[in-house]
Amino acid sequence: MPDAPLLARAHPDEVPVLVDPAVGVTLRPLVAADLPRVVEQCRDPESIRWTTVPTPPGGYGLADARSFLEDVVVAGWRSGENLCWAVEGRDRPGVFCGSIDLRLQGDGVGEVGFGLHPDARGRHLMSGALRLVRDFAFDVARLQAVRWRAAVGNWGSRRVAAAAGWPCEGVVRASLVHRGELLDGWVGTLLATDPRTARFWADPPVLSGPRIRLRPFAEAEADRIAEACRDARTQHWLVSLPRTYTREHALGYVESTREAAAEGTGLVWCVADAGDDRCLGAISLEGFGGYSQRAEIGYWAHPDARGRGVLTEATRRVTGHAEETGLVDSLLVRAAAGNTASRRVATEAGYREVGVLPRCEPLGDGTRDDLVLYARP
Ligand SMILES: CC(C)(COP(=O)(O)OP(=O)(O)OC[C@H]1O[C@@H](n2cnc3c(N)ncnc32)[C@H](O)[C@@H]1OP(=O)(O)O)[C@@H](O)C(=O)NCCC(=O)NCCS
Repeated sequence: MPDAPLLARAHPDEVPVLVDPAVGVTLRPLVAADLPRVVEQCRDPESIRWTTVPTPPGGYGLADARSFLEDVVVAGWRSGENLCWAVEGRDRPGVFCGSIDLRLQGDGVGEVGFGLHPDARGRHLMSGALRLVRDFAFDVARLQAVRWRAAVGNWGSRRVAAAAGWPCEGVVRASLVHRGELLDGWVGTLLATDPRTARFWADPPVLSGPRIRLRPFAEAEADRIAEACRDARTQHWLVSLPRTYTREHALGYVESTREAAAEGTGLVWCVADAGDDRCLGAISLEGFGGYSQRAEIGYWAHPDARGRGVLTEATRRVTGHAEETGLVDSLLVRAAAGNTASRRVATEAGYREVGVLPRCEPLGDGTRDDLVLYARP
């Protein structure tokens, strides 16, 4: 391991302290006084779910934390193969908030790993910490490539990695060993020559109207989505949906809305009731990432929300958002000629018919219909 001996340091005295005064995050040696909070972090369900912290019978305890300090942290600095820091925030000087490590794999390659104490999350501490380790890895350790990996579905980790510049390059199946199970993993590599800037992430903003609130989807909507997508009318007009639409499909759909946001390829909103927040339908704005700045609006409504102008209001709201923010240059809606309700939504929301593609739209009963195109005037 050619990189490691150069980075070997006596712990704690020689461990470099890294500070980002703007974010208020400090990386410093992890010491014995931190161990009670290391125990709390390692007993936290999110840490257990997403990281490989040990889960001994009776739960992670002080003895486990002590051997982590000696066998992983101190030994890692001694060999220079695993550089682990404690994360601290400006608002709580001296308090352990989590840890982050850089594992040297030789040949100029390293890998980052991180986790926060539950009471320190959601304050941008980890994205700040990761930027410090990224700069250390390239500027001090002189690495050429630093890898980030996370179990598929760990959106918090992916978001933090993206905020520090990491791309998510895809899924490597069965690439993570997690308590005896092989999990699919996301992987991303940042090169020394890559820009060190946050990656674009297009979260759908919350848009409120008199009767509806457009917001991101959540897993809790899975049953409402499945009901809507199993419905005979939805199945007839949206032939791309799986024919036997299950709750699993709905959960996959919610994941796909996050993927679209992360990749900046589309925005998908849950159309929620402004009063009780019930899911009434979905509306999406897709395809705007390309050179043409063209985008298409698509929608469906839950059967119990139809006939009340809900999707018309949603389409107006999303159209307004796209036009006001300059996100797109042109907007399109497509509807099968026989789908009167969908065509009404387009015209009521201010679109005009611009053309027809004959017999272009396959339907659920195996027949084909003309496809009507609508655009903004
Ligand atoms: C993942 C983890 C380190 C995030 O730390 P954090 O300090 O809360 O993250 P940040 O505050 O820096 O968040 C950066 C962005 O990610 C978003 N984010 C954080 N956690 C998120 C989550 N679970 N889901 C979606 N987005 C999330 C934040 O909202 C923020 O977005 P913004 O910049 O638009 O405001 C923390 O949740 C954790 O310790 N999880 C358990 C351990 C773990 O998963 N470790 C990674 C293993 S690979």
